[in-house]
Amino acid sequence: MDIKLVDLVTLHNRLKPEIDAELEKVFATSAFINGPTVGELEAALADYLDVKYAIGCASGTDALVVALRGLGIQAGDEVLTTPFTFAATIEAILLVGATPIYADIDPKTLNLDTLKLESAITPKTKAILPVHLYGQGCNMTAIMAFAAKHHLFVLEDNAQAFGASYGEKKLGTFGHASATSFFPAKNLGAFGDAGGIFTNDEALYQKMKMIAQHGSKLRYHHEVLGLNSRLDTLQAAVLKVKLNYLNDFNAARQKAAAWYDAFLADANLQTPQRDKAGSHIYHQYTILVENPGQRDALQQFLKEQGVPSAVHYPVPTHLQPAFADEKYPKGSLPVAESVAERVLSLPMHTELTEAEVAFVCEKIIAFVGKR
Ligand SMILES: Cc1ncc(COP(=O)(O)O)c(C=O)c1O
Repeated sequence: MDIKLVDLVTLHNRLKPEIDAELEKVFATSAFINGPTVGELEAALADYLDVKYAIGCASGTDALVVALRGLGIQAGDEVLTTPFTFAATIEAILLVGATPIYADIDPKTLNLDTLKLESAITPKTKAILPVHLYGQGCNMTAIMAFAAKHHLFVLEDNAQAFGASYGEKKLGTFGHASATSFFPAKNLGAFGDAGGIFTNDEALYQKMKMIAQHGSKLRYHHEVLGLNSRLDTLQAAVLKVKLNYLNDFNAARQKAAAWYDAFLADANLQTPQRDKAGSHIYHQYTILVENPGQRDALQQFLKEQGVPSAVHYPVPTHLQPAFADEKYPKGSLPVAESVAERVLSLPMHTELTEAEVAFVCEKIIAFVGKR
Protein backbone atom coordinates (compact mmCIF):
# COMPACT_ATOMS: atom_id res chain seq x y z
CA MET A 1 0.00 0.00 0.00
CA ASP A 2 1.48 3.36 -1.04
CA ILE A 3 0.43 5.57 1.84
CA LYS A 4 1.30 9.23 1.62
CA LEU A 5 1.60 11.72 4.45
CA VAL A 6 0.10 14.35 2.15
CA ASP A 7 -1.19 13.69 -1.37
CA LEU A 8 -1.31 16.85 -3.45
CA VAL A 9 -0.78 15.02 -6.75
CA THR A 10 -4.06 13.09 -6.78
CA LEU A 11 -5.93 16.18 -5.64
CA HIS A 12 -4.33 18.22 -8.38
CA ASN A 13 -5.20 15.68 -11.05
CA ARG A 14 -8.85 15.93 -10.06
CA LEU A 15 -8.91 19.74 -10.31
CA LYS A 16 -6.42 20.18 -13.17
CA PRO A 17 -8.80 21.18 -16.00
CA GLU A 18 -10.39 23.92 -13.93
CA ILE A 19 -7.11 25.22 -12.55
CA ASP A 20 -5.46 25.16 -15.97
CA ALA A 21 -8.29 27.27 -17.38
CA GLU A 22 -7.85 29.89 -14.63
CA LEU A 23 -4.08 29.93 -15.09
CA GLU A 24 -4.47 30.36 -18.86
CA LYS A 25 -6.54 33.48 -18.23
CA VAL A 26 -3.65 34.97 -16.27
CA PHE A 27 -1.10 33.99 -18.93
CA ALA A 28 -3.32 35.54 -21.61
CA THR A 29 -3.25 38.95 -19.90
CA SER A 30 0.19 38.61 -18.26
CA ALA A 31 -1.22 40.52 -15.27
CA PHE A 32 1.12 38.63 -12.97
CA ILE A 33 1.21 41.24 -10.21
CA ASN A 34 -2.02 42.71 -8.78
CA GLY A 35 -4.07 41.19 -11.61
CA PRO A 36 -7.87 41.22 -11.35
CA THR A 37 -7.90 37.63 -10.08
CA VAL A 38 -6.24 38.79 -6.85
CA GLY A 39 -9.15 41.12 -6.08
CA GLU A 40 -11.66 38.42 -7.06
CA LEU A 41 -10.00 35.96 -4.70
CA GLU A 42 -9.86 38.52 -1.87
CA ALA A 43 -13.59 39.16 -2.25
CA ALA A 44 -14.33 35.42 -2.31
CA LEU A 45 -12.15 34.80 0.77
CA ALA A 46 -13.79 37.63 2.71
CA ASP A 47 -17.18 36.25 1.72
CA TYR A 48 -16.20 32.73 2.77
CA LEU A 49 -15.06 33.82 6.24
CA ASP A 50 -17.80 36.44 6.51
CA VAL A 51 -15.46 39.37 7.17
CA LYS A 52 -15.37 42.74 5.47
CA TYR A 53 -11.79 42.75 4.19
CA ALA A 54 -9.23 40.26 2.92
CA ILE A 55 -5.69 40.98 1.73
CA GLY A 56 -3.70 38.44 -0.24
CA CYS A 57 -0.01 38.43 0.57
CA ALA A 58 3.13 36.47 -0.16
CA SER A 59 3.08 33.98 2.73
CA GLY A 60 1.52 33.22 6.07
CA THR A 61 4.65 34.48 7.78
CA ASP A 62 4.37 37.82 5.96
CA ALA A 63 0.67 37.94 6.80
CA LEU A 64 1.57 37.82 10.50
CA VAL A 65 4.31 40.44 10.12
CA VAL A 66 2.10 42.81 8.15
CA ALA A 67 -0.79 42.39 10.58
CA LEU A 68 1.44 43.05 13.61
CA ARG A 69 2.88 46.12 11.85
CA GLY A 70 -0.64 47.26 11.00
CA LEU A 71 -1.65 46.96 14.65
CA GLY A 72 1.35 49.11 15.57
CA ILE A 73 3.16 46.40 17.53
CA GLN A 74 6.80 47.39 17.86
CA ALA A 75 9.96 47.30 19.96
CA GLY A 76 9.18 47.40 23.67
CA ASP A 77 5.84 45.63 23.22
CA GLU A 78 5.12 42.09 24.28
CA VAL A 79 2.88 39.66 22.42
CA LEU A 80 1.36 36.79 24.38
CA THR A 81 1.28 33.51 22.50
CA THR A 82 1.81 29.75 22.62
CA PRO A 83 5.18 28.00 22.71
CA PHE A 84 3.70 25.09 20.76
CA THR A 85 3.46 26.40 17.21
CA PHE A 86 5.35 26.61 13.95
CA ALA A 87 8.35 28.97 14.12
CA ALA A 88 6.68 31.60 11.92
CA THR A 89 4.41 32.77 14.74
CA ILE A 90 7.41 33.72 16.86
CA GLU A 91 9.50 34.98 13.94
CA ALA A 92 6.79 37.49 13.09
CA ILE A 93 6.71 38.87 16.65
CA LEU A 94 10.50 39.19 16.76
CA LEU A 95 10.72 40.62 13.23
CA VAL A 96 8.56 43.61 14.21
CA GLY A 97 10.89 44.18 17.18
CA ALA A 98 8.46 42.94 19.85
CA THR A 99 9.00 40.19 22.44
CA PRO A 100 7.04 36.93 22.60
CA ILE A 101 5.76 35.98 26.04
CA TYR A 102 4.14 32.64 26.69
CA ALA A 103 1.33 30.87 28.44
CA ASP A 104 1.52 27.06 28.49
CA ILE A 105 -0.86 24.88 26.49
CA ASP A 106 -3.84 22.77 27.39
CA PRO A 107 -2.77 19.09 27.53
CA LYS A 108 -5.91 17.98 25.69
CA THR A 109 -6.42 20.42 22.80
CA LEU A 110 -2.74 21.46 22.71
CA ASN A 111 -3.93 25.04 22.16
CA LEU A 112 -3.26 27.95 24.56
CA ASP A 113 -4.46 27.16 28.08
CA THR A 114 -6.71 30.13 28.74
CA LEU A 115 -6.49 29.59 32.52
CA LYS A 116 -2.79 30.45 32.30
CA LEU A 117 -3.16 33.76 30.44
CA GLU A 118 -3.64 36.02 33.49
CA SER A 119 -0.37 35.06 35.13
CA ALA A 120 1.58 35.52 31.88
CA ILE A 121 0.90 39.16 31.04
CA THR A 122 2.79 42.29 32.13
CA PRO A 123 2.11 46.02 31.64
CA LYS A 124 4.09 45.79 28.36
CA THR A 125 1.75 43.21 26.81
CA LYS A 126 -0.03 44.79 23.84
CA ALA A 127 -1.49 41.84 21.97
CA ILE A 128 -2.42 38.19 22.18
CA LEU A 129 -1.66 35.89 19.26
CA PRO A 130 -3.63 32.65 19.61
CA VAL A 131 -2.71 29.85 17.19
CA HIS A 132 -5.51 27.48 16.13
CA LEU A 133 -3.29 24.42 16.03
CA TYR A 134 -3.85 21.36 13.81
CA GLY A 135 -7.22 22.68 12.55
CA GLN A 136 -9.02 23.36 15.83
CA GLY A 137 -9.74 26.71 17.43
CA CYS A 138 -8.50 28.06 20.73
CA ASN A 139 -11.15 28.93 23.31
CA MET A 140 -12.03 32.23 21.64
CA THR A 141 -14.75 33.08 24.16
CA ALA A 142 -12.19 33.13 26.95
CA ILE A 143 -9.51 34.79 24.82
CA MET A 144 -11.77 37.63 23.63
CA ALA A 145 -12.97 38.26 27.21
CA PHE A 146 -9.38 38.29 28.47
CA ALA A 147 -8.28 40.64 25.67
CA ALA A 148 -11.16 43.04 26.35
CA LYS A 149 -10.37 43.09 30.05
CA HIS A 150 -6.71 43.94 29.44
CA HIS A 151 -7.19 46.11 26.32
CA LEU A 152 -5.10 43.81 24.13
CA PHE A 153 -5.17 43.48 20.37
CA VAL A 154 -6.07 40.00 19.17
CA LEU A 155 -4.34 38.61 16.09
CA GLU A 156 -5.39 35.05 15.25
CA ASP A 157 -2.85 32.76 13.59
CA ASN A 158 -5.32 30.82 11.48
CA ALA A 159 -2.77 29.12 9.22
CA GLN A 160 -3.95 25.64 10.21
CA ALA A 161 -7.69 26.19 10.68
CA PHE A 162 -8.97 28.12 7.67
CA GLY A 163 -12.58 27.02 7.34
CA ALA A 164 -13.05 25.74 10.90
CA SER A 165 -15.54 27.39 13.25
CA TYR A 166 -15.79 28.26 16.89
CA GLY A 167 -19.39 28.59 18.04
CA GLU A 168 -21.35 30.27 15.27
CA LYS A 169 -18.40 32.02 13.66
CA LYS A 170 -15.50 30.95 11.46
CA LEU A 171 -12.07 31.11 13.07
CA GLY A 172 -10.11 34.09 11.82
CA THR A 173 -13.06 36.44 12.41
CA PHE A 174 -12.81 36.94 16.17
CA GLY A 175 -9.74 39.12 16.55
CA HIS A 176 -8.87 42.60 15.29
CA ALA A 177 -7.20 40.70 12.46
CA SER A 178 -6.26 37.17 11.48
CA ALA A 179 -3.49 35.77 9.32
CA THR A 180 -3.50 32.56 7.33
CA SER A 181 -1.14 30.55 5.17
CA PHE A 182 -1.89 29.04 1.79
CA PHE A 183 1.29 26.92 1.85
CA PRO A 184 0.64 24.02 -0.58
CA ALA A 185 -0.04 21.41 2.12
CA LYS A 186 -2.47 23.61 4.05
CA ASN A 187 -6.20 22.76 3.87
CA LEU A 188 -6.47 25.52 1.25
CA GLY A 189 -3.12 25.40 -0.50
CA ALA A 190 -1.58 27.30 -3.41
CA PHE A 191 1.16 26.12 -5.80
CA GLY A 192 3.83 27.86 -3.77
CA ASP A 193 4.02 30.34 -0.93
CA ALA A 194 0.94 32.48 -0.33
CA GLY A 195 -0.96 33.95 2.59
CA GLY A 196 -3.84 36.17 3.59
CA ILE A 197 -4.91 38.72 6.21
CA PHE A 198 -8.49 39.37 7.33
CA THR A 199 -10.21 42.10 9.30
CA ASN A 200 -13.49 43.93 9.78
CA ASP A 201 -11.71 47.23 10.59
CA GLU A 202 -11.49 49.49 7.55
CA ALA A 203 -8.67 51.72 8.83
CA LEU A 204 -6.60 48.66 9.77
CA TYR A 205 -7.34 47.11 6.37
CA GLN A 206 -6.12 50.21 4.53
CA LYS A 207 -2.97 50.34 6.64
CA MET A 208 -2.15 46.63 6.25
CA LYS A 209 -2.80 46.74 2.50
CA MET A 210 -0.44 49.67 2.18
CA ILE A 211 2.28 47.99 4.29
CA ALA A 212 2.11 44.87 2.10
CA GLN A 213 2.58 47.00 -1.03
CA HIS A 214 5.77 48.93 -0.22
CA GLY A 215 3.93 51.31 2.14
CA SER A 216 2.36 52.91 -0.89
CA LYS A 217 -1.19 53.63 -2.06
CA LEU A 218 -0.14 55.70 -5.04
CA ARG A 219 2.68 54.29 -7.14
CA TYR A 220 6.10 55.71 -6.20
CA HIS A 221 4.64 57.57 -3.20
CA HIS A 222 5.55 55.83 0.05
CA GLU A 223 3.67 56.88 3.18
CA VAL A 224 4.96 54.30 5.66
CA LEU A 225 7.78 51.77 5.72
CA GLY A 226 6.40 48.76 3.91
CA LEU A 227 7.56 45.60 2.20
CA ASN A 228 6.82 43.67 -0.95
CA SER A 229 4.32 41.06 0.12
CA ARG A 230 1.80 40.80 -2.67
CA LEU A 231 -0.04 37.63 -3.59
CA ASP A 232 0.94 36.47 -7.12
CA THR A 233 -1.94 36.51 -9.57
CA LEU A 234 -1.08 32.92 -10.55
CA GLN A 235 -1.42 31.79 -6.94
CA ALA A 236 -4.68 33.71 -6.66
CA ALA A 237 -5.99 31.84 -9.71
CA VAL A 238 -5.18 28.46 -8.12
CA LEU A 239 -6.70 29.47 -4.80
CA LYS A 240 -9.84 30.84 -6.45
CA VAL A 241 -10.61 27.41 -7.90
CA LYS A 242 -9.66 25.50 -4.76
CA LEU A 243 -11.68 27.77 -2.46
CA ASN A 244 -14.84 26.45 -4.14
CA TYR A 245 -13.90 22.98 -2.87
CA LEU A 246 -12.58 23.91 0.57
CA ASN A 247 -15.65 22.65 2.43
CA ASP A 248 -15.35 19.33 0.56
CA PHE A 249 -11.63 19.13 1.37
CA ASN A 250 -12.34 19.75 5.05
CA ALA A 251 -15.18 17.21 5.05
CA ALA A 252 -12.85 14.59 3.52
CA ARG A 253 -10.33 15.25 6.28
CA GLN A 254 -13.06 14.97 8.93
CA LYS A 255 -14.13 11.64 7.44
CA ALA A 256 -10.57 10.33 7.57
CA ALA A 257 -10.28 11.60 11.18
CA ALA A 258 -13.47 9.73 12.11
CA TRP A 259 -11.96 6.51 10.70
CA TYR A 260 -8.81 7.08 12.75
CA ASP A 261 -10.90 7.80 15.87
CA ALA A 262 -12.83 4.56 15.40
CA PHE A 263 -9.85 2.32 14.63
CA LEU A 264 -7.75 3.80 17.44
CA ALA A 265 -10.54 3.91 20.02
CA ASP A 266 -8.92 1.22 22.22
CA ALA A 267 -5.31 1.95 21.34
CA ASN A 268 -2.91 2.78 24.12
CA LEU A 269 -2.48 6.43 23.13
CA GLN A 270 -4.37 9.74 23.10
CA THR A 271 -6.25 10.58 19.90
CA PRO A 272 -6.97 14.27 19.11
CA GLN A 273 -9.24 15.76 21.77
CA ARG A 274 -12.10 17.86 20.49
CA ASP A 275 -13.34 21.10 21.99
CA LYS A 276 -17.08 20.66 21.49
CA ALA A 277 -17.55 24.42 21.14
CA GLY A 278 -16.00 24.38 17.69
CA SER A 279 -15.31 22.28 14.63
CA HIS A 280 -12.01 20.58 13.79
CA ILE A 281 -10.80 20.45 10.20
CA TYR A 282 -7.78 18.24 10.86
CA HIS A 283 -4.97 20.04 9.17
CA GLN A 284 -3.14 17.37 11.14
CA TYR A 285 -4.35 14.23 12.86
CA THR A 286 -1.86 14.13 15.71
CA ILE A 287 -1.71 11.41 18.34
CA LEU A 288 0.01 11.61 21.71
CA VAL A 289 1.92 8.58 23.04
CA GLU A 290 2.90 7.89 26.62
CA ASN A 291 6.59 8.73 26.59
CA PRO A 292 9.15 10.34 24.26
CA GLY A 293 11.22 7.23 23.61
CA GLN A 294 8.05 5.46 22.54
CA ARG A 295 7.22 8.22 20.02
CA ASP A 296 10.55 7.99 18.24
CA ALA A 297 10.46 4.19 18.21
CA LEU A 298 6.87 4.19 16.91
CA GLN A 299 7.82 6.59 14.12
CA GLN A 300 10.73 4.35 13.12
CA PHE A 301 8.54 1.23 13.26
CA LEU A 302 5.87 2.87 11.09
CA LYS A 303 8.50 3.94 8.59
CA GLU A 304 9.67 0.34 8.29
CA GLN A 305 6.04 -0.69 7.66
CA GLY A 306 5.69 1.89 4.87
CA VAL A 307 3.70 4.38 6.93
CA PRO A 308 5.01 7.97 6.84
CA SER A 309 4.49 10.26 9.84
CA ALA A 310 5.77 13.62 11.05
CA VAL A 311 6.43 15.47 14.28
CA HIS A 312 4.68 18.83 14.62
CA TYR A 313 6.69 20.16 16.45
CA PRO A 314 9.70 18.49 18.09
CA VAL A 315 10.99 21.57 19.94
CA PRO A 316 8.75 24.18 21.59
CA THR A 317 9.62 27.68 20.45
CA HIS A 318 11.04 28.89 23.79
CA LEU A 319 13.70 26.17 23.53
CA GLN A 320 14.69 27.01 19.93
CA PRO A 321 18.14 28.64 19.84
CA ALA A 322 16.83 31.31 17.46
CA PHE A 323 14.18 32.54 19.90
CA ALA A 324 15.73 31.69 23.28
CA ASP A 325 14.94 34.07 26.14
CA GLU A 326 16.35 33.57 29.65
CA LYS A 327 12.86 34.21 31.00
CA TYR A 328 11.85 30.77 29.64
CA PRO A 329 14.45 28.12 30.55
CA LYS A 330 13.86 24.41 30.05
CA GLY A 331 11.11 23.34 32.44
CA SER A 332 9.31 26.70 32.39
CA LEU A 333 6.50 25.54 30.06
CA PRO A 334 6.20 21.88 31.08
CA VAL A 335 3.08 20.90 29.15
CA ALA A 336 4.43 22.16 25.81
CA GLU A 337 7.79 20.56 26.53
CA SER A 338 6.27 17.18 27.34
CA VAL A 339 3.86 17.24 24.40
CA ALA A 340 6.63 18.13 21.94
CA GLU A 341 8.35 14.88 22.88
CA ARG A 342 5.23 12.75 22.46
CA VAL A 343 3.24 13.98 19.43
CA LEU A 344 3.10 12.17 16.12
CA SER A 345 1.10 13.33 13.09
CA LEU A 346 -0.34 10.55 10.95
CA PRO A 347 -1.08 10.63 7.20
CA MET A 348 -3.85 13.20 6.65
CA HIS A 349 -5.13 14.54 3.35
CA THR A 350 -8.20 14.72 1.16
CA GLU A 351 -7.51 11.48 -0.70
CA LEU A 352 -7.12 9.01 2.20
CA THR A 353 -9.19 5.83 1.99
CA GLU A 354 -10.68 3.84 4.83
CA ALA A 355 -8.46 0.89 3.90
CA GLU A 356 -5.36 3.07 4.18
CA VAL A 357 -6.41 4.42 7.57
CA ALA A 358 -7.19 0.87 8.75
CA PHE A 359 -3.72 -0.25 7.66
CA VAL A 360 -2.02 2.65 9.48
CA CYS A 361 -4.01 1.98 12.66
CA GLU A 362 -3.34 -1.76 12.57
CA LYS A 363 0.40 -1.01 12.53
CA ILE A 364 0.10 1.53 15.34
CA ILE A 365 -1.84 -0.88 17.55
CA ALA A 366 0.70 -3.64 16.82
CA PHE A 367 3.26 -1.31 18.38
CA VAL A 368 1.50 0.50 21.24
CA GLY A 369 -1.04 -2.18 22.14
CA LYS A 370 -4.58 -1.76 23.44
CA ARG A 371 -5.72 -0.24 26.70
C1 LIG B 1 0.76 28.02 12.72
C2 LIG B 1 1.46 28.59 11.52
N1 LIG B 1 1.73 29.90 11.49
C3 LIG B 1 2.34 30.46 10.44
C4 LIG B 1 2.72 29.73 9.35
C5 LIG B 1 3.49 30.39 8.26
O1 LIG B 1 2.96 30.28 7.01
P1 LIG B 1 3.88 30.26 5.70
O2 LIG B 1 4.59 28.96 5.65
O3 LIG B 1 2.88 30.44 4.60
O4 LIG B 1 4.81 31.42 5.79
C6 LIG B 1 2.41 28.36 9.32
C7 LIG B 1 2.69 27.50 8.16
O5 LIG B 1 3.63 27.10 7.70
C8 LIG B 1 1.79 27.78 10.44
O6 LIG B 1 1.52 26.47 10.49
